[in-house]
Formats: sequence, C-alpha cells, structure tokens
Amino acid sequence: MGKLARGVALVGAGMSKFGAFKGKTSRDLFVDAFMEMLASVDKGIDPKKIEAFYMGNFSSDLFEGQGHLAPILASWTGLNPIPATRIEDACASAGVALREGIIAVASGLYDVVLVAGVEKMTDLPTEKVTDTLATAADMQYEVPAGFTFPGFYASMATAYMDKYGATPETFMKVGLKNHENGALNEKAQFGAKISTIMEIRKASAARKGLPIPQWADEMDFLQDDKANPIIAWPMRLYDCSPVSDGAAVALIVSEELASLFTDHPLYIVGTGQASDGALHDRESLTSIKAASLAADQAYTMAGIGPEDIDFAEVHDCFTIAEIIATEDLGFFKPGEGGRMAEEGQTGRSGAKPINLSGGLKSKGHPVGASGVGQVVEVWKQLRGEAGERQLPGQLRYGLTHNVGGTGQTCVVHIFEKRD
Ligand code: COA
Repeated sequence: MGKLARGVALVGAGMSKFGAFKGKTSRDLFVDAFMEMLASVDKGIDPKKIEAFYMGNFSSDLFEGQGHLAPILASWTGLNPIPATRIEDACASAGVALREGIIAVASGLYDVVLVAGVEKMTDLPTEKVTDTLATAADMQYEVPAGFTFPGFYASMATAYMDKYGATPETFMKVGLKNHENGALNEKAQFGAKISTIMEIRKASAARKGLPIPQWADEMDFLQDDKANPIIAWPMRLYDCSPVSDGAAVALIVSEELASLFTDHPLYIVGTGQASDGALHDRESLTSIKAASLAADQAYTMAGIGPEDIDFAEVHDCFTIAEIIATEDLGFFKPGEGGRMAEEGQTGRSGAKPINLSGGLKSKGHPVGASGVGQVVEVWKQLRGEAGERQLPGQLRYGLTHNVGGTGQTCVVHIFEKRD
C-alpha cells in the first residue's frame, strides 16, 4: 500500500500555447502539444512505441459538441489502435490522467504511456462557459442556489478574510506575482505584467482621445473598479483565471527504460489523490481537505516533506485558491499563506516559489488540460530549460497540485531530478 510497484520516469513533455484560438479545435491544440513533446525527448521516440493513452478532458461534449475525444485524438496523431481513455474529473482531469498513466506503468501492464490534457472553451460565450463549468458543482443543492465558480471561491475568500484578517489586497498580490511570472512565459494567455497592461490601457485611451487614467502604481490599478471589475466580491477580474483553449502532453515510461529516451529523466516519486463532497457540506471553507490528504500521500510515498520542495505549480483558478493551496500543501501554517504572499515569499526569489509559469491566472486555464500543463513547467524547471524564468540554483524536487471543482478531486505529484 502507498508504494508504486516499480518506478516511473517522465521523459518528455510539451504544450500548445494557451489562449483563445478561433478556428482551432482541441485536435489541433493536441497535435501542437504532441509535436512539442516528441521534440522534447532527447534521444527521440517512435510514436509506435507508445502502448496506451490517458487523456484528461472536462467537457468537450458541451464546449465543442464532441464527445468520445480520446480515440479521436489518438487517430489524429496516428496512435490507434492503442487503448485511448478519457478521464473526467473537472479541472483535475489531466492530473488524474497522469496518475492513471503512472499506475498503469507501475503495475507492469505498459512500459510507455502517453498522458495528456485538452480543453477548447472559447467557442462558447462566457455565460455558457460559466454554466458548463458549474456542472462540476453540486447540481442539486449548490447551482440552484445561484453558485458559480467565481462565487464558490469568493465564499472561500470571505471566509479566509473573516478568519485570518486577510484583505482583498492580499489576493491582488497573488495575481500581481503570477502576471510577473507569466510575462516570462511565451506560452501564457495573459503573458503581460500588470505594469505593462497599465501602459497599454493608457496608450489606448490616448489613441481614442479619452482621459488618460492616472494610476499611482499596480495596486492602485487593481483597486480601480473600472480597470479591475468585481466578478464575485472580493474576487475581481485579475483574481480569476481566464477562459482558455490549450493542450499539454507528457510521456512516462518505466524507470528501467528511461535511459533509452534520455540521460536526464525526471522521476515521479510521489502521487496522491483524494476526494470530498460538495463545498456546502464541508467543515471548513478555508482549507481543502482532499488536497492535504493527497499531499500527505505524495510526501509519504516520496519520503520527503514540504520543506524539501524547491518550487510548486499549484491550482490558482482564483487567487484565494493559491493561498489556500500553499497551506494545504504544508508550505505555510493555516492562516499564514496570505501573509507569505504579501511578503513575496511565493515570488521567484521567495522562500517557496509558486507558479513560476504564471499559473492558471496568467498562463491560462483550459480546465481539463491544466494538470499536465503544470507538469510541463516542472519538466522545464528541473531540467534547467525554463529560459528567462528559470529558477537559479540546484533544484531537486518540484510539485504539482491540481484541483477539480472546489476540491471534490485533488491530485498531487512530486518529481525528482537525480543527475
Ligand atoms: N484576467 C485578466 N483579464 C481578463 C480575464 C482574466 N481572467 N478574462 C478576460 N480578461 C480581459 C479580456 O482580455 C478583455 O480585455 P480587453 O477588454 O482589453 O480586450 C476583458 O477582460 C473582457 O474579456 P471578456 O472575455 O469579455 O471577459 P468576461 O467578462 O466574459 O469573462 C471572467 C471574465 C472572469 C468572468 C471569465 O474569465 C471567467 O469566468 N473566469 C473564471 C473561469 C473559471 O471559473 N474557471 C474554472 C475555475 S474552477
């Protein structure tokens, strides 16, 4: 119990750009990610060697009118007739697909497995996207009461403010930091710093002959109801992840075969997953129990603790979610995550760098793809291939934390670089 029967290594990873792509389908995005994954395998991979395919996707049925996506994506990349399985666990779909792939390799059933996540959301208008996302909540009790996802996380944010004395500015600091990080990521949907966005807005006003906004600094911009409208108080526009299209792909193999593909694999040393009931049924609104349980399993399997993690990609679907994640993962004590964010401890040069990719906030959140999108960042950071946003120093452990709904599904993975 709690151990993999054999070791599993990550030997390739790639992603499409995240964003809003008119005329592109989830198939096209998947092909972009697949091609980048193929190019990332140091010693190359013949796709015919791939034995099974696990794909995370939340709702291609409703977003694109296309169900049964896994075999279609397999055919688009010449992978048929291998088993192709779609996994749906809301925004944690891709993280769970990775875990299912790991279990399949660790069991000895397969040696070489492709895992992926794909979502194409922007064909629908925002109100329809909101309704579609809400199907991941409790349709009997929560949705009829008027809840949507911004509303759920706003409730968690107000509970956190009430319990720990955080303010809306605490959350703004998370968005500010993630836009700083995302500005260094060419794949990000909103890859601009807040200061750059302010300059663009000023230039646009000047071009149109409108009064030029006079914000004192980034926080002034973020506190401006016009520039940063309230979506569900205290969550404003720059507290929300966007509606996104994108795909991400990872190649995992049994540890003993890793050297056939690369001399620099990453080892998947911890995996954990847990579930919970709907938000209204929970004891606490300020922590996500399934995330703590998943993290405990992953740390135990890896034989390490939160203090050993060099950096993490966490599920910041809303800024409050990042703060809660840093507590659920044991990086900070309950109630301290907000203060740590304010003090810059989760920034690039802080004690625990979080979301170096820009996170879901800036990089984008194609919901069923995000869990493997996080893996792509860990792949790049641990191998020293993250370019301008590369974290300096010797890195050994990276962690991914992927949440479905408001925490009904949580999955955590730990990756190790050994060379
Ligand atoms: N952050 C920053 N800017 C954003 C943004 C975001 N999340 N979403 C949109 N924008 C920008 C757009 O680029 C656009 O800018 P422009 O006027 O300069 O062109 C402007 O805001 C309006 O864009 P639009 O697409 O019309 O926004 P919207 O009001 O339809 O949607 C949200 C905004 C926040 C409601 C939407 O992004 C949303 O629902 N996000 C949450 C998604 C979610 O719940 N995911 C699952 C989590 S569990």
